Parts: sequence; structure tokens; C-alpha cells
Amino acid sequence: MRLLGIAASPRRNGNTERLLDAFLQGARQAEEVDKVVLTEFDIRPCQSCGRCARSGCCVLQDDMQMLYDKVLAADRIVIAAPIFFASVPAQLKAFIDRFQCFWVAKYVLKQPIVTRAEDRRGFFLCAAGMKNPRFFDHARAVVRVFFTVMNFSYQGSLFYPGIDWAGQIEQHPNALFEAQEAGKAFMQR
Ligand SMILES: Cc1cc2nc3c(=O)[nH]c(=O)nc-3n(C[C@H](O)[C@H](O)[C@H](O)COP(=O)(O)O)c2cc1C
Repeated sequence: MRLLGIAASPRRNGNTERLLDAFLQGARQAEEVDKVVLTEFDIRPCQSCGRCARSGCCVLQDDMQMLYDKVLAADRIVIAAPIFFASVPAQLKAFIDRFQCFWVAKYVLKQPIVTRAEDRRGFFLCAAGMKNPRFFDHARAVVRVFFTVMNFSYQGSLFYPGIDWAGQIEQHPNALFEAQEAGKAFMQR
């Protein structure tokens, strides 16, 4: 069982990366755990050039080729992201937009895009500075579409409003415990 954890915040060791680390700790029974920090990779935004409409492949050459392989190889995926302007950070949006070639391959060219086991599952961890729970709606929708395109069923999410300064998640009475337990349950199902 291969688990891929994606840290989507540009702030290293911030609230959502700590949530992700707790989740991965809980999921340590996975045979292979891989953690990717998006801000450390060269990910160019989709140019909407349309070339993938013919081939199903992206023509941009950057770190996404390696990241595509990781996503394709994963049985389980967990994304941890903060809310930025009521949505996901640009790093995560750029990453997700680059899966347009897979959307084309799957829905237009009718190519099988994922050859690994059918049972692929995804989980979403998110924190936001403000206490308004509606801020999570857009981020959840973005991640859900990504999961759907890449054949991950949306297994669940943990949202933490009112968490702002770096490390504040440690003050939450049970967030890191919940994330760890969610990671454990995620691998057991
Ligand atoms: C550019 C930027 C935009 C943000 N926009 C929002 C927002 O729209 N709503 C909100 O509740 N918090 C917003 N925040 C606060 C972050 O969601 C919050 O600080 C979060 O805990 C950061 O998680 P991290 O430490 O994993 O980066 C924003 C922060 C930044 C830096």
C-alpha cells in the first residue's frame, strides 16, 4: 500500500504540514510513505496550450513529470493545505491544474489513466485563520475534482478554522491527535 502525502503550504512546518505529519505518523503501517512539499518543486502553471488534447500528455517539462509518477503510483493520497483567499494556495492550484492532461486523456480521449489498483482513496486536511467554516467550501470542491479525475474516492477531511499563526495548531485541544487517528483509520479501511 503506497501512501502519498502532499504538503501544499509555502510555509514550512506550518499548521497544515504539522497536521500532515501527524496523519502520516498515524498511517505508518503503509508499506511505503512518501511526503512531497510542493513549494520545493518547479511547477509551472498550465498554459492552456491545448496540446494535451491530442496526446493526453503535458508538453511542459518541469518537476511535474516526477510528481505525475508519484500520484499514479499511489493507492492513498492525503493533501494538506491552508486556506488562501477562500481557496487553495497557488502552489496546490498550479499542481492540480497540471492534471488537465489526465482530464483530457480520461474524458475526451477515453484512455485508461490509472493502471494500478482500482481502490484509490483520498483525504484532505485544511486549516484557516478565520472562524468562518464557509471558507473551506471552495478548497474542498477543488480537491474533490482533483480526486475524481485521478480516480481517488474522497474519503473524508478534517477542517480547522481559527488557526492562523505558525504552530497554532499545537494549541488546538485535539487536532493533531485527530489527524493521527484519521491517518490510522485511512490505512485500515
Ligand atoms: C496569502 C494568504 C491568504 C490567506 N487567506 C485566508 C482566507 O481567505 N481565509 C482564512 O480564514 N485564512 C486565510 N489565511 C490564513 C491561513 O489560512 C492560516 O494562517 C493557516 O493556518 C496557514 O496554514 P499553514 O501554516 O499550513 O500555511 C491566509 C493566509 C495567507 C498567507
